[in-house]
Amino acid sequence: MSILVTGGAGFIGSNFVLEWLATHNEPLVNIDKLTYAGNRENLISVQGDPRYRFVRGDVADRDLVARLLLEHQPRAVVHFAAESHVDRSIVGPDAFMQTNVIGTFGLLESVRVYWEGLNHDRRNGFRFLHVSTDEVFGSLNEGDPAFDEESPYRPNSPYAASKAASDHLVRAYNHTYGLPTLTSNCSNNYGPYQFPEKLIPLVLHRAVHGQHIPVYGDGRQVRDWLHVSDHCAALRRMLEAGEPGAVYAVGGSAERTNLEVVEALCELLGEARPGPNYHSLVHMVKDRPGHDRRYAIDARRAMNSLGWAPQETFSSGLRKTMQWYLDNEEWVSRVTTGAYRDWIDRQYHASAG
Ligand code: NAD
Ligand code: DAU
Repeated sequence: MSILVTGGAGFIGSNFVLEWLATHNEPLVNIDKLTYAGNRENLISVQGDPRYRFVRGDVADRDLVARLLLEHQPRAVVHFAAESHVDRSIVGPDAFMQTNVIGTFGLLESVRVYWEGLNHDRRNGFRFLHVSTDEVFGSLNEGDPAFDEESPYRPNSPYAASKAASDHLVRAYNHTYGLPTLTSNCSNNYGPYQFPEKLIPLVLHRAVHGQHIPVYGDGRQVRDWLHVSDHCAALRRMLEAGEPGAVYAVGGSAERTNLEVVEALCELLGEARPGPNYHSLVHMVKDRPGHDRRYAIDARRAMNSLGWAPQETFSSGLRKTMQWYLDNEEWVSRVTTGAYRDWIDRQYHASAG
């Protein structure tokens, strides 16, 4: 028995791989294209572990995926691989369509052929777990009920539209071919190994270097935050107990405005590294085009039917995350390559110092 993970060198994927190998004896194969967001250094502690195999490759490469499936005979595929950054999708949507839509389609095709060749018991036991996002549901106003599994699809960014398309493909493969799929629609993750172009690590990285902290628009957009270890725990529970074909809305019941998140990080940094007035670094900058106002998740199905519940509060998770970034400044400086600096220059040019 083994599992195949896609995109396991990214933020959530590498947390999932590390936790899996720390808690399971089952081998794991990780296929990752190593885009700017993929980093094998995250997985250095499991290199050489006989249960772990890394393969550099594209999920859209059907021959490669077919070969890996035949060779490793996984009982499950956990699909993290994606282009994941909304701002990048606004500047250049092509890669999002290629990986999130065409890539997921190619992967589903390779998996379907493999799955159809399994014997009856293995077909029934097989799972294709698709890791998706709450952004497919669009934007809520203040006071609207939170998103749940029945929420209509109203994606607003090219990223969200590409993830919505991938969710629809997964649904169709379940409905048409009977492929035993599972889909999670999760809210904003945070924690170790997140690439420092996403809000929380970006704020930490810039603040410790005394650089302006860019907050889009009025900073009152609301996100629901879930620590990555709690998301990974929900995914493991879905593999263990999820109903084939089911969708689960996963979240932390931790709605915060962006300004609240930024101010909380400045507060925590002030305790951990007293001295500079981090709050004074906050700069309001031009808003993200089409910026979704609010996300919120009603995770009752996941909690009741999977027996899952987040273990971190936002306050405990944020403190640990801040400490991880302070303790791992070398990791951060190694991922902030030339390509990263080009992105920051282009994205924020004159508005952030
Ligand atoms: P990430 O950008 O940090 O990592 C993505 C990984 O996928 C990278 O290792 C990259 O190299 C790899 N990849 C990209 N294109 C590939 C391809 N064609 N073939 C193989 N590998 C490829 O992303 P993340 O934040 O870890 O998100 C993982 C998944 O979870 C994504 O599907 C994302 O949509 C979803 N998600 C993310 C969040 C969040 O807050 N980060 C929340 C909900 C859902
Ligand atoms: O909701 C789940 C989604 O969360 C995932 O599907 C995405 O993969 C993930 O990237 C994340 O998307 P967001 O767009 O919410 O994350 P990001 O960290 O880019 O931004 C969080 C909020 O902070 C958002 O409202 C935009 C704002 N922001 C972001 C950046 C990078 C700023 O105000 N300033 C910034 O510089």
